[in-house]
Amino acid sequence: MVTEKYTRILGIGAYGPSRVVTNEQLSQTVDTSDEWIRSRTGILERRFGSDEQSTSDLALEAAQKALAHAGVLPDEIDLVLVATITPDMAFPSTACVLQHKLGLRKVACFDLEAACSGFLYALDVADSMLASGRYKKALVVGAEKMSSIMDWEDRTTCVLFGDGAGAAVLSKEGEGPALVGFYCGADGSNPSLLCQPAGGSALPASSETLSSRKHFLKMNGREIFKSAVRVMESSCRTLLEEHNLELSDVSLIIPHQANMRIVESLSQRLEVPMNKFYCNLERYGNTSAASIPLALNEAVQKKALSDGDLCLLVAFGAGLTWSSTIVRF
Ligand code: UT7
Repeated sequence: MVTEKYTRILGIGAYGPSRVVTNEQLSQTVDTSDEWIRSRTGILERRFGSDEQSTSDLALEAAQKALAHAGVLPDEIDLVLVATITPDMAFPSTACVLQHKLGLRKVACFDLEAACSGFLYALDVADSMLASGRYKKALVVGAEKMSSIMDWEDRTTCVLFGDGAGAAVLSKEGEGPALVGFYCGADGSNPSLLCQPAGGSALPASSETLSSRKHFLKMNGREIFKSAVRVMESSCRTLLEEHNLELSDVSLIIPHQANMRIVESLSQRLEVPMNKFYCNLERYGNTSAASIPLALNEAVQKKALSDGDLCLLVAFGAGLTWSSTIVRF
């Protein structure tokens, strides 16, 4: 019989930039209103990094907190994964930049791009790499400077997103919440539903791509909304079924923080009351790959989870991608 040794979260940390922008402030430069944003999304304010801060700087703040929380020295880290769609630059990876800023040893570093599902994908990948025995302590980060790809002339997207970062130190050795189940999926049949069209090999940067604003995030909000609700429901059910668990076994669900109406629809479809969902999107907006670790960190700080509790993390994003993770506290 194979006895599974679970990967543990030794420590967690998060960072929200200090510059807070309220809906009211946004409505002074964008054709929108606090009432529209509040009622359609639940977002009240978001945080934006400064001009001097890149994604790796946000990641650095979160990573330092996670290392301190774990009581792990930078020298002990032998694997760095950064989930992001807003890397410092196309290459080299933000994980490599972070390695240097943190003063880590010359250990394996790479970025993982699964949009809003990125942090949960990265937990799955790190778990497998730790299971190989060739890595002992992984630093997994979800970090985004969404403000760097937002089109301030597109009110349908620019009011939704925010900047931030969250990080976790993982190991098979030591104490902490256990990662007991993973599920990842994707459907690449319609990438234009949510994308940044220009700047890659399909549409390299040119004066035409700049003037047509194709370097900014584009989204078909209504279609993404419908898919998000449907796919997050099935993702939760699939993972729990694989582990012979019921929704009633779960103490807290931490969903991707995009829109409170998505969370409410998920709550109805799963028949799980809203007080079992942890949300902080009202203060951060949608921070893509940072959203789940920002919320998980906050739930841990607020002691919303006790020993033995099962927590279900569920994400959905561009790709389309989706992922869910079960954490036993
Ligand atoms: O992180 C990846 C996952 N992303 C998501 O999960 C986002 C999913 N989508 C959504 O959250 C919602 O679809 C939105 C919040 C983006 C939009 O909400 P909606 O209820 O689907 O609005 P809509 O797109 O149907 O637009 C309704 C109206 C439109 O006006 P008309 O055509 O009815 O006259 C829009 O032009 O609201 C208008 N509108 C706005 N009005 C004021 C769109 N954006 C704004 C705005 N302020 N910012």
